Amino acid sequence: MKKQILILAGDGIGPEIMAAAEKVLHKINAKLQLGLSWEHGVLGGAAIDAHGVPYPAATAAQAEQADAILLGAVGGPKWEQIERSIRPERGLLQIRSELNLFANLRPAILYPQLADASSLKAEIVAGLDILIVRELTGGIYFGQPRGIRELENGEKQGFNTDVYAESEIKRIAKVAFELASLRGSKVCSVDKANVLEVTELWRQTVTELQQAEYPDIQLSHMYVDNAAMQLVRAPKQFDVVVTGNLFGDILSDEAAMLTGSIGMLPSASLDEKGKGMYEPCHGSAPDIAGQNIANPLATILSVAMMLRYTFREEEAAKAIESAVGAVLDQGLRTADIMSTGMQKVGTIAMGDAVVAALDAF
Ligand code: IPM
Ligand code: MG
Repeated sequence: MKKQILILAGDGIGPEIMAAAEKVLHKINAKLQLGLSWEHGVLGGAAIDAHGVPYPAATAAQAEQADAILLGAVGGPKWEQIERSIRPERGLLQIRSELNLFANLRPAILYPQLADASSLKAEIVAGLDILIVRELTGGIYFGQPRGIRELENGEKQGFNTDVYAESEIKRIAKVAFELASLRGSKVCSVDKANVLEVTELWRQTVTELQQAEYPDIQLSHMYVDNAAMQLVRAPKQFDVVVTGNLFGDILSDEAAMLTGSIGMLPSASLDEKGKGMYEPCHGSAPDIAGQNIANPLATILSVAMMLRYTFREEEAAKAIESAVGAVLDQGLRTADIMSTGMQKVGTIAMGDAVVAALDAF
């Protein structure tokens, strides 16, 4: 493997958080002689400005070549008025889909140092460690037909289609079962099988796979409305949660808040061979862009996930995660995770502190 990474900083706070993450990547690469190399490309609004489309052919060619992609965030008010099919978010959906990155892992882990930053009581979230496995290239995000049409009476009607084939359900459920076997051996599959046929098939398929191939995994099922409630009522009941594209989008934001801030949550989007795109779960936050106040830790932790899942460098991944723990121990906080008695720092200082902490290992 040539160990090539494509960095797509994107829009809004993307370039700032990525600059911090890149310093960390540089440090770990040199320190542990990982032999990684990287180049930059454009995606989203930045790509629209440069090439007129959110996922240009040049970026697609770079992405095809790379073993892993590190992404900041895309989108912003500047591009909200343009035609739907070439908005920044479409670039993100396109790269996910074209590279077949169907398995989206979103770990919601509470750093003990941040128990006070959660909106829930500390005892409800202490020790929280949930892994949300979201299907990322199917479901209502991609289903056809879709659009906005005009009815005979002249009224407009919007429509989308939620579709999942058995094979799509099986491959994501398999990822969830495999990952569960490396941790708490519990999978909760989230659906709306009481109303939607597509998720009735989802529930049936997940159940059959568990019975046939994963008898040691404890499988439960939950309707999405109940899951949303249980996540804030008693989140520690969950180990691995597997769900479709739309429910996963919503539940992962909710789970993020349990950990104090969405600014702490990394993610991995993997294909069947381990190629992956790694990005923070949060968006481009245009309202705070360019102010050096965004939290770079989700992106830095995404670097750790990349080292773990694509490059199989567990030691390097752990070193970064420990360094993040160390800077939190030092009391350093960006605005989103700030609490009394802590030291407020900006994006750059937070990134530099992680780099410095890596020196200590
Ligand atoms: C996410 C984001 C994206 C999604 C948007 C930006 C298209 O919310 O990664 O969760 O809905 O998948
Ligand atoms: Mg989302």
